[in-house]
Amino acid sequence: MRILITGSSGMLGSDLVKVLKNDGHYVFGFDVLDPRSEEHKPNEFRKIDLVRGDTLKSALNEIKADIIVHSAAWADVDGCENDPAKAKEFNEGMTLNLGLAASGMDVSFFLISTDYVFDGSRSTPYKEDAITAPVNVYGRTKLGSENISDKMFKNNTIIRTCWLYGKFGKNFVDAIIKKADLGTELAVVNDQVGSPTYTMDLASGISAIIGKGRSGCRRVVNVTNSGSCSWYDLAVEIIKLKGLSGKTAVRPISSGELDRPARRPAYSVMDGERLKSITGAGLRDWREALADYIGVKNGNL
Ligand SMILES: NC(=O)c1ccc[n+]([C@@H]2O[C@H](COP(=O)([O-])OP(=O)(O)OC[C@H]3O[C@@H](n4cnc5c(N)ncnc54)[C@H](OP(=O)(O)O)[C@@H]3O)[C@@H](O)[C@H]2O)c1
Repeated sequence: MRILITGSSGMLGSDLVKVLKNDGHYVFGFDVLDPRSEEHKPNEFRKIDLVRGDTLKSALNEIKADIIVHSAAWADVDGCENDPAKAKEFNEGMTLNLGLAASGMDVSFFLISTDYVFDGSRSTPYKEDAITAPVNVYGRTKLGSENISDKMFKNNTIIRTCWLYGKFGKNFVDAIIKKADLGTELAVVNDQVGSPTYTMDLASGISAIIGKGRSGCRRVVNVTNSGSCSWYDLAVEIIKLKGLSGKTAVRPISSGELDRPARRPAYSVMDGERLKSITGAGLRDWREALADYIGVKNGNL
């Protein structure tokens, strides 16, 4: 397959390039930043600002992708809260521009979306058809992007995922390791529960869905590592795996104490049964994936 990845220099995008190439696809990337992974060759990449979109149609005509995986977004949750107009321009505008540029082309669209489309008021995992009710600007603009992709693409699959970490982006896991290593005491919220997800595993899940062809496509598919925990539990596990328990202490706090601009859902765990029914397997448990990532960071793997 010929696959175009937007946001291909980002945390998820970089791993998508690697995994989809390993799985035998021809992969091309668009981003405003230069590629970060070695697997991404300069001749398979174009610097394009998807918000402006003026060169998009001719670029899509040249690449002739069978599939577009739209990973580019403004994923800074508090930044979006402070600048709702920019959040809409980026998260909804880029999807609209891709839809307009791709009109008349026979291309399947995969939109990367988020658990933050939910309000978090439940205590059991959200299935794909659960009612959406975002509690912050980022979630509202990602839901807007979902709705635009539904209207613009006949073959549209929305991948909802959660709490990402990976080698090619700033993330919670690296931040905790850095602070713990310095011996800084950590205060971490214990009233938000989700499923931490390793971008390599997410990329493999997306590749497995793509491997099923059109029969693998659904309107929405949840793709996260399995199991769930709070940010506090995650921090404790990171410190244990890195062997830093003697160096620092982690204190559980409430979201109220942290006082960030954007509200977060208290519970955003998503049900993984649909992914299993499409590909035959869900993603592994979050603890196993985290141990693998931390092994990668230690240079053990
Ligand atoms: N991170 C999470 O925990 C999380 C959770 C659930 C869902 N998601 C979704 O997963 C996807 C990937 O997230 P991520 O964490 O990998 O994000 P990321 O690292 O910020 O990657 C997104 C990439 O898109 C680029 N981009 C932004 N605006 C662009 C534009 N106008 N034109 C072209 N490229 C542009 C970014 O460049 P800049 O760095 O310059 O902005 C970045 O390289 C996003 O759709 C996000 O909403 C993320």
